[in-house]
Amino acid sequence: MIIAIDGPAAAGKGTLARRLADHFDLALLDTGLLYRAVGMNLVRAGADPDDAAKAAEAARNLKPEDLEAGDLRDDAAADAASRVSAVPDVRAALLDFQRSFAAEPPGGTRGAVLDGRDIGTVVCPDAESKLFVTASPEVRAERRYLELRERGLDAIHGRVLADMKERDARDSERTVSPLEPAKDAFLLDTSDLDADQVFAAALDFINGNN
Ligand code: DC
Repeated sequence: MIIAIDGPAAAGKGTLARRLADHFDLALLDTGLLYRAVGMNLVRAGADPDDAAKAAEAARNLKPEDLEAGDLRDDAAADAASRVSAVPDVRAALLDFQRSFAAEPPGGTRGAVLDGRDIGTVVCPDAESKLFVTASPEVRAERRYLELRERGLDAIHGRVLADMKERDARDSERTVSPLEPAKDAFLLDTSDLDADQVFAAALDFINGNN
């Protein structure tokens, strides 16, 4: 059983993915972490995340323990990730890892939930259930702002919204695997829903598929 969840940042994908993985007892892969780890490995080495050759090399050399770094949730990591994720060789290098995870989920579970930007379209086009989770940029920026403040980080609302729009544009306009819903994805706009309502709507859709 494979559940593919795609959508832009702070639309509610991560929370939904975790709840679905718990509910169905499936392994969970947040694929954004892979791109964040590649980006931060470059930044830490003093390299430019826009350097395509270095980014591809960093993706090929990515190790599982790199996903444990404590700074992958920071904005610097999000920015570096959105740059390296536009490089075709980076995406190709990370594809095998994601597909192997889906085919043979760790822990011997009967399937997996993967969340990202191109799971339903490229990584797992045969997934039984595909969800495309969105919300308005304003709602997503507000959620991200509150999350940063909760973590004790300084954040300026207007800046968070501007950064989010910039990253959205980069994710949607890149030529390889741009952010777009799969044709058979269930579109779930979470702008006016809380986490329980999002989970209930997703469950209805998935149960109708199985
Ligand atoms: O979901 P996130 O914020 O952790 O993603 C960080 C960046 O990685 C984001 O700019 C999009 C990119 N990404 C991607 O291109 N493909 C994925 N499957 C997951 C993330």
